[in-house]
Amino acid sequence: MSRTSIRIAAIGAALLFGAGGLTACGANDAESGGDSGDGGGDSKVIALLLPESKTTRYEAFDRPLFEEAVSGLCSDCEVLYYNADQDEAKQTQQVDTAISEGADVIVLDPVNGAGAGGMVQSAQDSGAEVIAYDRFIAEADYYMSFDNETVGQMQAEALVEAMGGEGSILMLNGAPSDPNAAQFKAGAHSVLDDSNIKILEEYDNPDWSPENAQSFVSDQLAKYDPSEINGVYAANDGQAGGVVAALTGGGVAQDALPPITGQDAEIAAIQRILAGEQAMTIYKPIPIEAETAAEVAVALANGDDVPTSTDTGIDQSDYEGVASYIFDPTVLTADNVADTVIADGFYSAEDICTGEYAKACEAAGIS
Ligand code: GAL
Repeated sequence: MSRTSIRIAAIGAALLFGAGGLTACGANDAESGGDSGDGGGDSKVIALLLPESKTTRYEAFDRPLFEEAVSGLCSDCEVLYYNADQDEAKQTQQVDTAISEGADVIVLDPVNGAGAGGMVQSAQDSGAEVIAYDRFIAEADYYMSFDNETVGQMQAEALVEAMGGEGSILMLNGAPSDPNAAQFKAGAHSVLDDSNIKILEEYDNPDWSPENAQSFVSDQLAKYDPSEINGVYAANDGQAGGVVAALTGGGVAQDALPPITGQDAEIAAIQRILAGEQAMTIYKPIPIEAETAAEVAVALANGDDVPTSTDTGIDQSDYEGVASYIFDPTVLTADNVADTVIADGFYSAEDICTGEYAKACEAAGIS
């Protein structure tokens, strides 16, 4: 399609939809049941399906960054958006809805990676192509994620180091339905099992929730004295928050908390890190993931060749037989907040250094 005809198509879509429709374009909450169909005549439909909303990254970063990147790359692409709230059945329905709305490309972050084959099949039968976003799906056409096993290794290495190489820990993994959780867990075990750290109890949190993490740790405090817990491996920041709540609720003073890990660089976790309540998190710069997904999705929607090397600077590789794009995670501690999340514009110092955290920011040289 030439530039002029793209413009004409865009103007046509604007006339068809009116102002309300334009707002809906690219920022459409299909769950609200709005008129989100393939009403733009020639417009290409890309559906984004995310798994849950308790982890802040999905609504705060993945969704808006993906929508923004698609609209920057393709003026006649429409993005339909769905969040499954950790409910597999709901996600299956959402895929069916996306198909009936005419989705050309489905970008799917599955609640259950191993159980997503049926959804992928329905999408492919309808002629759509499927990108497994962040969590692996063996049947997908493309896959993109951070190097998840390395994430687990980095978390465990940081924990072992913060504990001085010895002591006992509680270990809280992610949801067994999430293929990433198994990879984080395997990576962490590869380090812990070779160390002098003893795992007192290990828990696979069925939905990654902070609430479950809190109850698990509270339950352990009935069995173990807090002094016996010298560290906690928490696979993500949400759970780390639950761990801190359980330990402080169980009488551990804020400045006597053991080293606790995390992942996702959530703002609350960075604040805890600066305040000395959490040892580290893993920073996964979501823009590169969302923008790469947008680039691949738009190429597929337009029927263009999918880039073997993307504008975001990532080379396509093979992961378990699926064409993939894999990104590097970074360890984040109090020492590199300024050089990572702030330097990247992921957060501003003002976002982090609110109220009670202003002093900790000052001490860490963040302004
Ligand atoms: C994983 C994802 C992580 C995190 C986790 C829940 O699949 O890769 O970034 O969101 O789910 O915290």
